[in-house]
Amino acid sequence: MLSLGRWMLLAEGSNPGQNLSIFDPASPATQSIFDLAMLVFAITGLIYVVVTGVLLYCVWKFRERPGDSKQEPPQVYGSQPIEVAWTAAPALIVFFLMLVTMRTLWEVKDHPTEPQANDNTLYVTVIGRQWWWEYQYEYYNGRKLSFTTANELHIPVSAAGIPRPVRLSLKSADVCHSYWVPRLAGKVDLIPGRTNSLTLQTSEPGLYYGQCAEYCGTQHAHMLIRVTVESPEEFEHWLENQAIPAVEDAQVQAGKEAFLAQSCVKCHAIRGTAAVGTFAPDLTHLMSRETLASCELKNTRENLARWVRDPQSIKPGCLMPAFGLIDRDEEAIVDYLMTLR
Ligand code: CUA
Repeated sequence: MLSLGRWMLLAEGSNPGQNLSIFDPASPATQSIFDLAMLVFAITGLIYVVVTGVLLYCVWKFRERPGDSKQEPPQVYGSQPIEVAWTAAPALIVFFLMLVTMRTLWEVKDHPTEPQANDNTLYVTVIGRQWWWEYQYEYYNGRKLSFTTANELHIPVSAAGIPRPVRLSLKSADVCHSYWVPRLAGKVDLIPGRTNSLTLQTSEPGLYYGQCAEYCGTQHAHMLIRVTVESPEEFEHWLENQAIPAVEDAQVQAGKEAFLAQSCVKCHAIRGTAAVGTFAPDLTHLMSRETLASCELKNTRENLARWVRDPQSIKPGCLMPAFGLIDRDEEAIVDYLMTLR
């Protein structure tokens, strides 16, 4: 059931088969990695063809024929020219592969920068958690941001001559995770007690999928990533909405009170209310997200209600327990959450 939901979400993309493909690069870094992979593939493919060709030729040419003597042919021991040739040739090939690999490593290496006014750079801290992603938006265009969201990263698209790089600082709150959006960047691990970095940049707007790429426990396979790359205007609009506190809605006051009376508030935050927990996804703009449970389920009322009722049936082992709410409270809480846009 879960996998079905996951594949349905993946299939939304216009090109589902290629959404997680390293052979469909959409950023300068992944283009470099792709070019290197193709070059290595061509060289090793050529070696394979030559070696296999010589082998097959010898097998055929020197096969046993009727009337051949049963004695061993003359044996050759030691040949300096051959020894030199088959040591030097591979050494040169490996040296060449090392040089091109080092060049690519240098190209894709992250060169951290400091926030500056009007430098178009977006800074986000990514925290890997069992089993979801926390995004703390820090700076954009040198402007201080201070909101937190989960699982769905929004970034601005680059234009010709106007790069809008996104610098991610990667940290972990528990175990090792690995951040991998195959079309946008190579994978980088999130390691407890350490900060790694990664830059995303692309001039193709759209939705990009990713996946935690380091085994991190039971739900590792369901720790999905979505990156929405949008125009600077759409991105600004999204930023503005994320920055404001939750909007009050008198119609769902009962749900808000029920939420605040439960232990939901120990882990979740809803800015503008007494809920200030930091262990679980910030719910201030929950309904601005398209998915739930780290991109596992579509964010619909039905799925939200299922999640609130019994998260363990959807993601066994996740940190959120079923609270055994009475139906009236559960309905009211879901109604309230549905207003957090
Ligand atoms: Cu997080 Cu695997």
